[in-house]
Amino acid sequence: MCGIVGYVGNDKAINILLKGLSALEYRGYDSAGVSIKVNNGINTVKTKGRIMDLASLIIEEQIDLSGNIGIGHTRWATHGIPSTLNAHPHYTDSVSVVHNGIIENYRELEEFLKKKNIYKKTDTDTEIIALLIDMFLKKFKPKEAFEKAVAKLEGSFSIAAIFKETDTIMLAKKDSPLVIGIGRHATYTASDISALIDHTNKFIFLEDGDIAFIDKENIKILDHSRKSIKREIKTIDWSMESAKKGGYKHFMIKEIAEEAEAVRNTIQSRIDANGNIYLNDEINMDESFLKNIDGITIVACGTSYYAGFSAKTVLEKFTEVPVNVEIASEFRYSEPIFSKHNLFIVISQSGETADTKESLKFAKSKRIKTISIVNVKESAIARMADTCIYTLAGPEISVASTKAFVSQLSVLYMLAFYIGKLKGKKIDKELSMLLKLPGIMEKTFKMTNDRIKTVAEKYHPYKNFLYIGRGLMYPIALEGALKLKEISYIHAEGYPAGEMKHGPIALIDENTPSVIISPDKEPFYSKTLSNAEEIKARSGKIIMLSDKNSDMVDDFIELEEIEYDFSPFIYVIPLQLLAYYIALYLGYDIDQPRNLAKSVTVE
Ligand code: AGP
Repeated sequence: MCGIVGYVGNDKAINILLKGLSALEYRGYDSAGVSIKVNNGINTVKTKGRIMDLASLIIEEQIDLSGNIGIGHTRWATHGIPSTLNAHPHYTDSVSVVHNGIIENYRELEEFLKKKNIYKKTDTDTEIIALLIDMFLKKFKPKEAFEKAVAKLEGSFSIAAIFKETDTIMLAKKDSPLVIGIGRHATYTASDISALIDHTNKFIFLEDGDIAFIDKENIKILDHSRKSIKREIKTIDWSMESAKKGGYKHFMIKEIAEEAEAVRNTIQSRIDANGNIYLNDEINMDESFLKNIDGITIVACGTSYYAGFSAKTVLEKFTEVPVNVEIASEFRYSEPIFSKHNLFIVISQSGETADTKESLKFAKSKRIKTISIVNVKESAIARMADTCIYTLAGPEISVASTKAFVSQLSVLYMLAFYIGKLKGKKIDKELSMLLKLPGIMEKTFKMTNDRIKTVAEKYHPYKNFLYIGRGLMYPIALEGALKLKEISYIHAEGYPAGEMKHGPIALIDENTPSVIISPDKEPFYSKTLSNAEEIKARSGKIIMLSDKNSDMVDDFIELEEIEYDFSPFIYVIPLQLLAYYIALYLGYDIDQPRNLAKSVTVE
């Protein structure tokens, strides 16, 4: 989704903006632009395309961008097609604005401006903000004009604006992230700390309703009631190194290779081999409440949803209560019935997904106890829930989520064991298995990487795939199919294997390969082999992931034998690799697939 960077200091702003925007490329975008304050005004350069295109245009156009104050933006189109005209910043002679989010009342505001003979030129909702500020600037000083314009906006937004008349960058935040980075004689802003971690590790996370005025030495924040407020300065320990490719061709393959470490980091300080789970402080809920929960609701989107779905079986087994896993975009508009002592869990890598956030708000409004499982520190969802258990996967840059998934799964498993233990269940065996997992995952990556490359070479020309599994492997089939769709643009369906004969079997012929995911666990293995028979009888090709081979399959991917409950952690790895290598053979932009964004901050 869109990204914002801003800088005010003694250095040339353009270099800092371009570097920051490059760090935000992973979020997905279609156009980019910058505005820099110069002696006689504000100069803007923007273009459809990539940051590289913007950098070339800057050289070509030879516009003066030598100033020390500026804002930059990567746009992911919501209102209006991706084009140079619709790219941000949007500006007038006096002000230039970048914006993430959606101004929901932009049509009303457009009418309001028209009555004053002020017309917009682009298809965007953002231009309205620039025009409103400009209108108020005719009567008021910049700070007042900015406040008055922001007061008229409805919807979600993070905004950064620079002005001809002042050296202050003005910021506003509501339902879309915006941080301030604190440097030496310099102040930064961005929608995402990864744009700034090269410059500082000290950040202020603006709260909803905040307006902020930043210059190179000062930061002034007003809360929603426009009272001056001090927000805590947080030190974030993410290193730039961990957000770089480190010799890998793409972030996605680097992040798959890091999965074992991501799980290790997530569990190692929280459990030990003596059956102890140290989650009390993080969960921070009465033991009696947790012992007496009578239902768990998990809400998330995409891969995070599949993590919840994959953990459902183990959660139910150890907590002995029903677990409902819901898709956030549906849940937020449904009329859910919560059980009396419900525990509500949201899962989100980015911690900014709009649908998940709204679902969380809804649960909170019903006074349900909420836990978030989030990867990005201090993100909105992490801060909004009653309590947050962070996945310690490190920055996940590739749009296709991989290491976040297994880390989320490990938190959900720990939670299941934690509540199970409170209820008197023995969990020593499970904890020692969890501790062994990173080693098994490392081995799985090594065992399957080359084999999958060969299989991907053979299968990359196919246009349709069916992924099937039973029990714990059904959600993994869904996740495997999602990965393939996302980065290779191949149609892939995930299905419970037993459901095949109720419809999807109609798709099977020699041109539709099936990926069967089936550890040797009865009754699933033999039942899934019957599905394999049905596929073979219709000339379908079979790729099978299992710890037990069968002569019926065309391509067998061998996996370690593992305790069945823990199989999702390792069976997902070759599926992520399969998607990766197929997309590689097809020559696609793996880390930034078309139409997708890393954090989906709009509805
Ligand atoms: C995963 O590969 C996807 N890009 C997507 O489904 C993602 O998992 C979903 O948008 C949820 O994001 P979140 O975990 O940041 O909330």
